[in-house]
Amino acid sequence: MQSDSGATESLWMDTVEMASFPPLTDDARAHVCVVGAGIAGMTVAYLLARAGKAVIVIDDGPIGGGETGRTTAHLCNALDDYYSRLAKLFGDQGARYAAESHTAAIQRIEAIVELEDIDCDFERLDGFLFLGDGDKREVLMDELEATHLAGLTDTGLFKRAPIDAFDTGVALRFPRQAQFHVLKYLNGLARAITRDGGRIYCGTKAKNIEDGTPARVTTHDGHTIIAEDIVVATHSPINDWMVMHTKQAAYRTYVVGLRVPIGAIPRMLLWDTSDPYHYASVHQADKADADYEVLIVGGEDHKTGQAQNTDERFTRLEHWVRERFPMAGEVIYRWSGQLLEPVDGLAFIGKNPGADEHIYIVTGDSGNGITHGTIAGILLTDLITGCENPWTDIYDPSRISFRSATGYAQENFNVAEQYASWITPGDVGSADEIPNGSGAVIRRGMRKIAVYRDASGNVSECSAVCTHLYCIVDWNDTEKTWDCPCHGSRFDAYGKVVNGPAITDLEAAAG
Ligand SMILES: Cc1cc2nc3c(=O)[nH]c(=O)nc-3n(C[C@H](O)[C@H](O)[C@H](O)COP(=O)(O)OP(=O)(O)OC[C@H]3O[C@@H](n4cnc5c(N)ncnc54)[C@H](O)[C@@H]3O)c2cc1C
Ligand code: FES
Repeated sequence: MQSDSGATESLWMDTVEMASFPPLTDDARAHVCVVGAGIAGMTVAYLLARAGKAVIVIDDGPIGGGETGRTTAHLCNALDDYYSRLAKLFGDQGARYAAESHTAAIQRIEAIVELEDIDCDFERLDGFLFLGDGDKREVLMDELEATHLAGLTDTGLFKRAPIDAFDTGVALRFPRQAQFHVLKYLNGLARAITRDGGRIYCGTKAKNIEDGTPARVTTHDGHTIIAEDIVVATHSPINDWMVMHTKQAAYRTYVVGLRVPIGAIPRMLLWDTSDPYHYASVHQADKADADYEVLIVGGEDHKTGQAQNTDERFTRLEHWVRERFPMAGEVIYRWSGQLLEPVDGLAFIGKNPGADEHIYIVTGDSGNGITHGTIAGILLTDLITGCENPWTDIYDPSRISFRSATGYAQENFNVAEQYASWITPGDVGSADEIPNGSGAVIRRGMRKIAVYRDASGNVSECSAVCTHLYCIVDWNDTEKTWDCPCHGSRFDAYGKVVNGPAITDLEAAAG
């Protein structure tokens, strides 16, 4: 499958043919226009269509071509930010709603798989959280207590996870988690959305989103979609210039997939408590006559646009795997993707902050974005159809959490520091130093230029100034993209925008 979000290919992208839909070629009208066809947009569209709404989904690429195609697809109510922290930030009731909503999301996916007969390898399994190097048992004890207070009364401490490959040491078990093939699932949703009268347009980029009665989406090709409500499910909200991007930070995360003998590793989800943490699971190879399974392991996260030698991350991950899973064979997948980490740990799902009445957003996915995206489907359908939902406040994009003020200040101080790149030298002195298939920023007088040399040695140049809020982009050699260290906008090697919040391409390099 072709992805517009990077050069690498995930296990899911390699093993599915996505349903394709033509671009929008005329003006259109619907009850709800959903911008973005990842897990969030497709789940919102599916549930709204089931509720009788006329929906239009547009995406500038293929379905699932954003971060959803790059996930590792653990479906869990074990949350990245830990219930002990969420209880401090949102109170005991807030932590209970977080647990309830993620549990409901897994159940909802399971129910949809069954109802719509989606063949997507959905399976229930247990998850185990174990200690990273040097971490203390108290971390797990605290989390055990916090999960019980949050209503997950079936979690428990085990001496070790039930796996022979290596001794995890003491582990906290989260029962009835799940995994699936996310792109097969999205194909199933697409089939159901169109059956229920929904329309999907790929290759259709939203350029402008305007609140009102009715609200309007204008596409890059000049067409207008008129709708009562608009849902912006573009991962990073492209309708927001500033507010939401101060409440979350963009991180890259890395995954390797290795061959393992069938049945050698029991089916379970594994996470350690390291920071950044490692996450692991086993999946069928999904190739005809494959006599192996695929162990996928992720981690090595760093702030987008703020790390050199991204390829070394894969080497370190492989090393981590080989120390623990001696049966692991050849590395057959390497991919990376982007996460948006909310400063207080929960996604932002609801009405766009400010005066907007008919624009809804979903963002701040963190490493739980598949369940957060599914929660968005449930919650936004309720909000749009006028039903009350008890989760509204904890996911409200307008919320301000004073208890997360330190994290907020740290992330935004880090952003401010990135502007220093305006006065530093270039990565290299001239384009001659850039190897084929690579890129680097060079300084030319007062300007910084993003220079890419393709595999045949042809050089192309554009301005290195991000079109969002003018930070200097950085070359990502793994995905062959220009990544912005401030709020995570990304551009392909020739400067075409692939990830918001920027919505316009890098400018041509003048003179
Ligand atoms: C390596 C990795 C591992 C992960 N592991 C897990 C996990 O185990 N469990 C979990 O729950 N979560 C996980 N996540 C997080 C999860 O995958 C993501 O949060 C989730 O897929 C995001 O879905 P989304 O629909 O919000 O965004 P996306 O899938 O990125 O969809 C947004 C869509 O919007 C489109 N778009 C953007 N701008 C425009 C525009 N202007 N006009 C039209 N369309 C536009 C894009 O093309 C894209 O298709 C992981 C993420 C990564 C990267
Ligand atoms: S993403 Fe905000 S300045 Fe680049």
